[in-house]
Amino acid sequence: MERNLCLIGKGNVGTQFLKLLQKKQEILKTKFGLNFRIIAIFEYDGALINNNGLDLAKIFDIGENFRKLEDWEKNVKALNYLSKLDIETCIETTPTNPDTGEPALSHIIEALNNGFDVVSSNKGPFYLKYRELHELAEKNKCYIKYDATVASCVPALAIKNDLIANEIIGIKSILNGTSNYILSRMTSEGVEFSLALKEAQELGYAEADPTLDIEGFDAAGKLVILVNELFDLSLTIKDVKIRGISDITPQAIKLAKSDGYVIKHLAIYKNNSLLVEPRLIEKNSSLDINGTLNVIEIQTKYAGPIILMGRGAGAKEAAAAILNDLINIQKLRGYIH
Ligand SMILES: NC(=O)c1ccc[n+]([C@@H]2O[C@H](COP(=O)([O-])OP(=O)(O)OC[C@H]3O[C@@H](n4cnc5c(N)ncnc54)[C@H](OP(=O)(O)O)[C@@H]3O)[C@@H](O)[C@H]2O)c1
Repeated sequence: MERNLCLIGKGNVGTQFLKLLQKKQEILKTKFGLNFRIIAIFEYDGALINNNGLDLAKIFDIGENFRKLEDWEKNVKALNYLSKLDIETCIETTPTNPDTGEPALSHIIEALNNGFDVVSSNKGPFYLKYRELHELAEKNKCYIKYDATVASCVPALAIKNDLIANEIIGIKSILNGTSNYILSRMTSEGVEFSLALKEAQELGYAEADPTLDIEGFDAAGKLVILVNELFDLSLTIKDVKIRGISDITPQAIKLAKSDGYVIKHLAIYKNNSLLVEPRLIEKNSSLDINGTLNVIEIQTKYAGPIILMGRGAGAKEAAAAILNDLINIQKLRGYIH
């Protein structure tokens, strides 16, 4: 069975998705009888388009010079061109504007209005317009999946399907690897916040502008998506009480340590409240993870705490989540079992 796709945003995640798709093509064919063809890859200034399917090997061979390929059409914009495509699914991996969710929000709306299923790694549209996007998908009889937005390929959203008969009580989590890395270094080395941040930037864990990570907005956005998904709510990032970690001192960390605690930047859902803030947790407890890892503790009525932990960022990890979503959509549509 042939399934046609388009990709919007050929950056780190988009490129890793294409590579993973190519790597898994054979197994997708033999195991599921599925053949995914990429019909278009949109960038901000044009697109690679071929209605018979783009040659991925050629695109990888030419690397950054992909605009020189004969399939390149200059100045084509995804928003204006989506309706012309004969595809089933749109993969959206552009950068997130945290205030507007654009350009991803408009891309997703346009894709759904054209009857395409959507897979996205973009948080913005989902912590700003979660319910609206679901309603639009339902109206157009489309599926919309975004597992990469929360802890990448750690199955934080997907676990919902395995908890239907259980009862979820609350969530405690660490959803931002950058702030966790900084606090881990401050704890193990006793260094100042500014030094740990500089180190994180040098290692590529923190952006040149680290505000979204260290002030807690990134974790808050992910928490909103996670809670909406697991509890079927319609919250937005405005519903989260947020406190960052930039005022944490080595002295505070030392004091906590002497009492058997560590300071962690937690994203919590409890008693209908969403908060992201530095909290004391017992040393060596399940949330005491180091480095850039993410951890999600889901408190449930019947299983007690269920703990998911893993690498919550990285382009390859996000690409794996996207491909998973794509395969799951084929299952939901009844094309594979
Ligand atoms: N990287 C990760 O570890 C990770 C993990 C999970 C989720 N995510 C999310 O996934 C998304 C992509 O991340 P990334 O790391 O791949 O970012 P990225 O490397 O900056 O890639 C984004 C790509 O989209 C292109 N783009 C920008 N505006 C566009 C438009 N209007 N139409 C088409 N293409 C456009 C960019 O082009 P230019 O660069 O030329 O502007 C760039 O090639 C982000 O929303 C991010 O938050 C990332």
